[in-house]
Amino acid sequence: MKGVVLAGGLGTRLHPLTKVTNKHLLPVYRKPMIYYPIEALVQGGIDEIMIVTGGNNAGDFLRLLGNGKEFGLAHLNYTYQEGEGGIAEALGLCRAFVDEDKVAVVLGDNILQMSIKQHVDSFREQERGARILLKEVEDPERFGVARLEGDRIAEIIEKPKDPPSSFAVTGIYFYDSQVWNIIDSLEPSGRDELEITDVNNFYIDQSSMQYSIMEGWWTDAGTFESLRRATELVAETGANNPD
Ligand code: DAU
Repeated sequence: MKGVVLAGGLGTRLHPLTKVTNKHLLPVYRKPMIYYPIEALVQGGIDEIMIVTGGNNAGDFLRLLGNGKEFGLAHLNYTYQEGEGGIAEALGLCRAFVDEDKVAVVLGDNILQMSIKQHVDSFREQERGARILLKEVEDPERFGVARLEGDRIAEIIEKPKDPPSSFAVTGIYFYDSQVWNIIDSLEPSGRDELEITDVNNFYIDQSSMQYSIMEGWWTDAGTFESLRRATELVAETGANNPD
């Protein structure tokens, strides 16, 4: 299984912090933000990783991360997203790298308390389709939210005004090689992005989406409030802790 960290986009919600640097290079406690999703993949047993960068400071990723030696990797792969065409567009840039393999995707601003190893292993065993991780949150309207029917996800709604549950879709996604054709078929959303939620709903409609509820805390770090929370949580417990 290949791994992808999505660190494109412009991070405008964090201005002026992101005026001269990329959001994913900002500090979260002792490390730059992007260290945590990379470590999540490595800790999960994935050692072939591509990073999607973007914005005006893409060269800084290379200076910071190099060939990934610090993470125990033999090398790191990079690509560049122009503009901010959405999470699914950013993932689409990794098609040739992932090829026919399965892929684990982590958003560059997502940080987790616990290791994703058990979920990586579950997806290795899953014959086909996709897998997402849900987490109960107090502010579901900020995220993609799962509408559940019994044990099954019936639909994901992106940033609903009236959330159908308190289960947010976290930014850790697992896909089979069908994902590339799905991305090709997407139309831009109202915010002019190719939405990862549309990709996930495609798998749901096909009855090939599986999910788990994530243990431990999970947070994004893309707003002032969540960036502060991320720093506090990491300082308290550390991130990507093995079970
Ligand atoms: O954090 C989980 C949430 O992430 C999910 O619940 C939502 O369903 C999903 O749409 C996403 O929501 P956000 O609106 O918070 O995503 P944001 O635009 O902040 O982007 C998250 C990361 O994805 C960002 O740190 C870098 C990457 N990204 C984003 C965009 C828009 C890219 O690489 N390229 C992009 O064009």
